[in-house]
Amino acid sequence: MYRLFIRPLLFLFAPETSHHLALKALSLCLKIPLLSQVMRSTFSYSGTHEQKTLWGITFPNVVGLAAGFDKDGKYIKGLDALGFGFIEVGTVTPLPQDGNPNPRLFRLKQDRGLINRMGFNNEGVDALVNRLKSLDRDKISAVIGGNIGKNKVTPNEEAHLDYLKCFEALHPYVDYFVVNVSSPNTPGLRALQDRDSLELILTTLLDTETHRHSAKPILLKISPDLTQAAITDIVDLVNSLQIDGIITSNTTISRDKLKTASTQIDKIGNGGLSGAPVREKADQMLTWVNAELQSDKAIIAVGGIETAEHALAKLQNGADLIQVYTGFIYEGPLMVKKIRKGLEAAHTSIA
Ligand SMILES: Cc1cc2nc3c(=O)[nH]c(=O)nc-3n(C[C@H](O)[C@H](O)[C@H](O)COP(=O)(O)O)c2cc1C
Repeated sequence: MYRLFIRPLLFLFAPETSHHLALKALSLCLKIPLLSQVMRSTFSYSGTHEQKTLWGITFPNVVGLAAGFDKDGKYIKGLDALGFGFIEVGTVTPLPQDGNPNPRLFRLKQDRGLINRMGFNNEGVDALVNRLKSLDRDKISAVIGGNIGKNKVTPNEEAHLDYLKCFEALHPYVDYFVVNVSSPNTPGLRALQDRDSLELILTTLLDTETHRHSAKPILLKISPDLTQAAITDIVDLVNSLQIDGIITSNTTISRDKLKTASTQIDKIGNGGLSGAPVREKADQMLTWVNAELQSDKAIIAVGGIETAEHALAKLQNGADLIQVYTGFIYEGPLMVKKIRKGLEAAHTSIA
């Protein structure tokens, strides 16, 4: 149904327009009792081995929605109804910002990928906090993560203060945090992955009274374009601090091995590539991180997941949880249930 009818219809629109159309339609369906019932029964699934407890938090299942999909936390109810075990809102910045000019999101259909240079467009942390405040958490099954970043105008020397503002403001309303220093679309952001900058950001958060009184897991999201030596350095830092895990990985600036014509790729220009073309790189990062990360820390793996087999490969390669973004655009909302069923079947056949 999605592949035959809905996707071709949505793909008639510009990618960002169809993204918001689809999410608004989803929210609307939930408001109509009969449709909401049909939707919930279509997407509902419950396997016996799905739950996973990490950092004292029980995740209903290991399939999460990656950051950037619902930056402002506008669609949590609808996304929860699709069966995600966790939803990561953000990246949010202290102040609202428009992001880069349009066009800034491109489909690479042949490659089942996307290129984006959104540039942290978001309504700011206060707007997100207000939305999360009004959310009835008793009616949401998914765990909620908050992915935090810095405003474009903030110089890197003051970046830690932006992360701190978002951290303090969101703290009562999210279950875990992700420090995003790996998006390629905010000039200079990825330079924050070097050891001194990272240490300043992470220790600033760890040293807050808020964290000391009520610690919530803090993870670091890294880029798939780092060298193995840079990863070793980052993992070493994470091992030495009370940081709870790593997310591998964000989008890549590489354009290797694409089927899409190079003229089209050149025309698109800068941005982060995601989906099937980033899978191999993300898997490589996962292997490197898993080899060096202490066993009391967790890994969330993301990058190119479209099927239960892809998800299983990441879990078998050391991931504790997985996330999807681009695959979800190509496969549609039933993808979550399909992956969950596939993982349950794999668990049962291994057990
Ligand atoms: C349009 C778009 C926007 C994104 N925005 C963010 C973001 O704001 N913060 C972030 O940490 N990652 C962001 N990402 C990266 C995804 O969370 C994910 O790490 C990446 O796309 C790889 O997963 P995938 O291959 O399943 O898409 C974005 C990705 C896309 C495609």
